[in-house]
Amino acid sequence: MNFQKKILCIGAGYVGGPTMTVIADHCPQYKVTIVDINEEKIAAWQTDELPIYEPGLLDVVKRTRGKNLFFSTDIVKEIDEADIIFVSVNTPTKTFGEGKGKASDLQYLEKTAHAIVAASNSAKIIVEKSTLPVRTAEALEKILNSNEKGIHFEVVSNPEFLAEGTAIRDLENPDRVLVGSRETEEGFKARQTVVDIYKNWVPDERIIRSNVWSSELSKLVANAFLAQRISSINSISALCEKTGADVTEISRAIGADSRIGNKFLNASIGFGGSCFKKDILNLVYISETLGLTEVAEYWENVIKMNEYQEKRFVKRMLVTMFNTLANKKIVLFGFAFKADTGDTRETPAYYVAKMLLEEHANVFITDPKALKNAKIDLAEFGDKVNYIEDPYEAAKEADAIAIMTEWNLYKTLDYKKIYDSMRKPAHLFDGRNILNLSQIEEIGFDSHAIGIQ
Ligand code: NAD
Ligand code: UGA
Repeated sequence: MNFQKKILCIGAGYVGGPTMTVIADHCPQYKVTIVDINEEKIAAWQTDELPIYEPGLLDVVKRTRGKNLFFSTDIVKEIDEADIIFVSVNTPTKTFGEGKGKASDLQYLEKTAHAIVAASNSAKIIVEKSTLPVRTAEALEKILNSNEKGIHFEVVSNPEFLAEGTAIRDLENPDRVLVGSRETEEGFKARQTVVDIYKNWVPDERIIRSNVWSSELSKLVANAFLAQRISSINSISALCEKTGADVTEISRAIGADSRIGNKFLNASIGFGGSCFKKDILNLVYISETLGLTEVAEYWENVIKMNEYQEKRFVKRMLVTMFNTLANKKIVLFGFAFKADTGDTRETPAYYVAKMLLEEHANVFITDPKALKNAKIDLAEFGDKVNYIEDPYEAAKEADAIAIMTEWNLYKTLDYKKIYDSMRKPAHLFDGRNILNLSQIEEIGFDSHAIGIQ
């Protein structure tokens, strides 16, 4: 089959995989290939046991795989053949050197840039799909265009806004797609080429064009604003627990104001996920290096509030359970950072588990999709942590249950049956406010939720 264009994605992770699959689904005229240095991951993408869990993903993969969607580890060959290369490698927080703990670690991006230069024999558009510090395109252009083959690479920023658990829905029907480029003739041309991919299914009015710096920075700002809303409502939850106001009623009351809006106002144990903390720290670092101390401090507080919320939760458990958790069996319902994903990166459940272990509690964890990752994350604690798939089994003889993830499953369990199997007094701490507390208390539980006295 003769394809109109060859699109390559470097990085077959939570973003590269779903994003490119949906592009392949809507653009049969393009050949879409995803490569990764991780051979195991690439092998898994070619089976029905995909390397990530995402509702609806397998259906789209099955529709496209082998037709116009391909997976490969032959990075050199695929780079050479591609017209457009999306770079979707990880950009974690630096764990060493200058900017340690805040700046983005761009080593994977830079390696990719050098691999592109080495393997290319023709001009290509390079699309920043990874989340990057503002002005990264400049560095990327320098590396790419200092090649000695006389090849020109045009860098376009196209940040991804999908959320895990709803990735396919978000990609199929995005609020907006953002494409930023240099405002030169070649820049505009490259921008249009990327826009043309999305126009196959996204209405034009939802495709935002901007300069490349605005596009890069918008991504960091979007995540910072979303996380800030959670920290804001979580700060109010602490106030509610002291005053008798109910944070869920407050969310409803303020969210009804169309200027505020009702989304992202669920008070919780805290936000997790691989990006909110990393992207805010990146924003903080950029502001600091530009001498904008007040700006840096302002955003850093969003993270401090999140950490406070996690600590506050465990403190409440401790105080409620008579100031000792030693040898008490505590079951975490959920370990994923949110429902409908097996991803546990920066999950609040990890920090809660760690604090409970410091109190010498016997920690049990149950989760429908994240137990494999939980075991890896908590490996250092060995058999001090127990993993049980069935929540009813996990809860037997427990002193307390703490809901960490808002899985639908946990909204529909038979809590009477669970209560009967637990030690008394049986405590329940709802870190996601998903249960009806009066019904839970009627069963006999001593129950607590976020932002409710
Ligand atoms: P991930 O870790 O799941 O995937 C990244 C992949 O890149 C890995 O499979 C890794 O093996 C591969 N890789 C690294 N270096 C490589 C190289 N030199 N050549 C080939 N492959 C290489 O990460 P992710 O969650 O998909 O995130 C990727 C980027 O997208 C990050 O910048 C992140 O901030 C951003 N982002 C993530 C999400 C999300 O929901 N996870 C949403 C929007 C944006
Ligand atoms: C988030 C953004 O929503 C995406 O737009 C962005 O593309 C992505 O980060 C990214 O850059 O990685 P994600 O982290 O997958 O997506 O999931 P969210 O739905 O944003 O949830 C993040 C965390 O906040 C979860 O732990 C969730 O439980 C928590 N949350 C969310 C709350 O505690 N309260 C809320 O009201 C909403």
